[in-house]
Amino acid sequence: MSVGIGIAGAGTVGGALLRRLVTDRAVVTARTGLDLEVRLVAVRDADKARPHQIPSRLITTDVMDLVTDDSIDLVVEVMGGLEPAGTLVLAALQAGKPVVTANKELIAARAPQLFAAAAASGVPLLFEAAVGGGIPIIRPLTETLAGEQVSRVMGIVNGTTNFILSAMTEQGWSYGDALAEAQRLGYAEPDPSADVSGADAAAKAAILAGLAFGVWVDPARVYREGIDRLGVADLAAAKRLGYVLKLLAVAERTPSGVLARVHPAMIPADHPLAAIRGATNAIFISGHAVGDLLFAGPGAGGDPTATAVLGDVIDAARELLSGSSVAPRIAFGLGEIASFDEVPTRWCLRLEVQDSPGVLARIAAVFGDAGVSLRSVWQDGRGDRATLIVVTHLAPEGSQRRALAGLEALDVVAEVAAAIRVEGDDS
Ligand SMILES: NC(=O)c1ccc[n+]([C@@H]2O[C@H](COP(=O)([O-])OP(=O)(O)OC[C@H]3O[C@@H](n4cnc5c(N)ncnc54)[C@H](OP(=O)(O)O)[C@@H]3O)[C@@H](O)[C@H]2O)c1
Repeated sequence: MSVGIGIAGAGTVGGALLRRLVTDRAVVTARTGLDLEVRLVAVRDADKARPHQIPSRLITTDVMDLVTDDSIDLVVEVMGGLEPAGTLVLAALQAGKPVVTANKELIAARAPQLFAAAAASGVPLLFEAAVGGGIPIIRPLTETLAGEQVSRVMGIVNGTTNFILSAMTEQGWSYGDALAEAQRLGYAEPDPSADVSGADAAAKAAILAGLAFGVWVDPARVYREGIDRLGVADLAAAKRLGYVLKLLAVAERTPSGVLARVHPAMIPADHPLAAIRGATNAIFISGHAVGDLLFAGPGAGGDPTATAVLGDVIDAARELLSGSSVAPRIAFGLGEIASFDEVPTRWCLRLEVQDSPGVLARIAAVFGDAGVSLRSVWQDGRGDRATLIVVTHLAPEGSQRRALAGLEALDVVAEVAAAIRVEGDDS
């Protein structure tokens, strides 16, 4: 018996998925025993020329046809954005149709509502491609690690920003030149703001927090800093200290609740995440019993993402045909969200200061008053000015910020040129 598939979206991911469902149909059937038949494809523009021609009888411009058409057993949403994707996914679930989506923005923003609808109808809502593209990460977190006490998930989950930071580190390029190259190669959109601001990574951090700790974190509550203010001097400072700069998405369990955050971070050059170069993504999971795990691979691109979507489609189809639950049932519950101020962080600060007697003592006093102790201080004097690079010990984020405010107010500090957190360095 064949399973009728309706796909909303035939762009980068949808186009690749369509190619696979058509050209690999026999292969999938031979491996899984399932006959997956594409019966409807919703697009915005029915007349658009596409690399993989879709027969016109399969095309609709009304996504809700995927819900109302009885020949569609399973809905794949690969168009992106909150609407009309959200209305489609909810209506399909309420109609008892399993849904597969690659839409991190939608899952992050509406997880409680959508998973409640899936549970009420007893159908799966699968989203392996929403974080890490082609990297299997949702299943490992929800199935293999279901019995593990995960303490922290740290990821490089945005290929565009990792490409830019790698080019700045390895080629010595400015931020602007590295961004232009990322755009030329198609790694960055003409409007790169969702990537470089950390918004894309924040949605993924929220999802990772939900999966690892079962607590839904509203993406609007994910602490977020982008990479657009980083310069070559920051990369040089990182290198001097034996660190590499990355945009990290961190989801962690703290004594006061769950926290998700996205910001540039210095990590030790021998940390497994430091080796992740270019547009590659990686997710580093720390568990009490299992230790550290690293998942790495292509975080985007039509074909790798379509592989993850197709895996979900196969699981959902198996479930439809067997009538018993195959896919994991995921619940994003409500729980305590920690205040970032209370979470211990380590900072690296680059200060432009007066080079005169007593300056270091006054700077040290500001840190001391804020309750932050110093791990290392490196000074490069140039006549009456000096650059200081200070690495702190772990202290609550709120204390680190108090120290920063104190330094900014200090007359001997001409400029706090950079304040970047250090992660993954427990030495
Ligand atoms: N691209 C990746 O590497 C990647 C990786 C992981 C996850 N994802 C996620 O996968 C999803 C799809 O991304 P993509 O890169 O494939 O997007 P895309 O290339 O922009 O394609 C979007 C598709 O959706 C269709 N569409 C948009 N609005 C529509 C509407 N109102 N009604 C009907 N169809 C509509 C478009 O139709 P037209 O073709 O007619 O314009 C297009 O076919 C997003 O949620 C994205 O975050 C993408």
